[in-house]
Amino acid sequence: MSDMGEQKPIYLDNHATTRCDPRVVNAMLPYFSEDYGNSASTVHRMGRFADSAIQDARGQIADLIHCHSKEIIFTSGATESNNLAILGIARGRKSPRKKIIVSAIEHKSVLNAAFALQEEGFDLIRLPVDSDGSVTEQAARDFIDEDTLLVSVQMANNEIGTIQDIQWLAEIAHENGAFFHCDGAQAAGKIDINIDNLNVDLLSISAHKMYGPKGIGVLFTRGGPYAKPLIPIVRGGGQEYGLRSGTHNVPAIVGMGLAAKIAKEEMLDEASRLHKMRDEFETKVIELTDASRNGAQVKRLPGNSNLTIANVDADALIATTPGVIFSTGSACNTGAPEPSYVLEAIGLSRLQAYNTVRFCFGRFNQLDESTIAAEIISKRAIEIARDAMG
Ligand SMILES: Cc1ncc(COP(=O)(O)O)c(C=O)c1O
Repeated sequence: MSDMGEQKPIYLDNHATTRCDPRVVNAMLPYFSEDYGNSASTVHRMGRFADSAIQDARGQIADLIHCHSKEIIFTSGATESNNLAILGIARGRKSPRKKIIVSAIEHKSVLNAAFALQEEGFDLIRLPVDSDGSVTEQAARDFIDEDTLLVSVQMANNEIGTIQDIQWLAEIAHENGAFFHCDGAQAAGKIDINIDNLNVDLLSISAHKMYGPKGIGVLFTRGGPYAKPLIPIVRGGGQEYGLRSGTHNVPAIVGMGLAAKIAKEEMLDEASRLHKMRDEFETKVIELTDASRNGAQVKRLPGNSNLTIANVDADALIATTPGVIFSTGSACNTGAPEPSYVLEAIGLSRLQAYNTVRFCFGRFNQLDESTIAAEIISKRAIEIARDAMG
């Protein structure tokens, strides 16, 4: 990828991952080379220094979501946070409740954790969504009841960007005595998350979606680590209140802390910039090609654009447009390409799903890249559609 002399492509895959902010990289560096102490070795000052850096980062992340730093547990990312929340609550439960409810468009790390519980004897229900990708109040009221142990609904979708109304969903869960978990991986750092208003019991966040390093994330647990009946998945030396053992990844934790601080300070300006670029891009592609937009029009992540372009095979478009990096949003794991279950859940046909591509603008996109990318994508899409129609 470090092709010398070649022009850099325009990166529009910021939902998959983001570039680590250079300020974050700089802040992490000393923790690899000089300040490499183990935070558990508090008998000496190098260990205490590492521990204090972790506590600072915990505070910075708590600030981003307006919670107490004791409510933050470090994990290896949102996948692990989602697993800890879902498996942890189910295995630590004190009630005979049997139902686990997740939305139909959750990330695989939520869905597969829920499927694992189904194999352990829980009843799994996948809440339907409307054509925008929103869980409706009616669906929530129809399915959440007094046999429900846990409801898990994401804050924002990784493919279509739709932002859910978490507050009342959590309220309905609580009215029925159920726990509420929210996967905030795509939302954190992009839209304001205020734990006080949200009502959630547990919330997952990942650093690499908000210009921090990969392999680090947190699980917020309301009331602190012992307030919920959580059973750990990773056991060992007892780090993170015994809920997530393993030597702390201090550089990554420091990086996530700074990424959270930067996000808090810059989120508003950044969101309006990304919103503008996304709208310019989307309007131009829709004007030039036979494209339609997926996801909620208003309640959508600011940089997200998910487009179905008639007669344009998404994989062909991605493979033959080297000047822009983008994706379909649904990774194919098995080699047998399955259409995205998110797109199916919002009512797209298989063919429409195969004609759908996802773009996401981020912090490091230049303003003019929205129109340049729209022109490159549209030109190629028109050629592919023309070939497809003979
Ligand atoms: C909505 C959502 N949840 C969870 C994850 C998993 O995050 P991580 O890569 O930190 O494990 C992702 C990443 O793609 C995501 O988009």
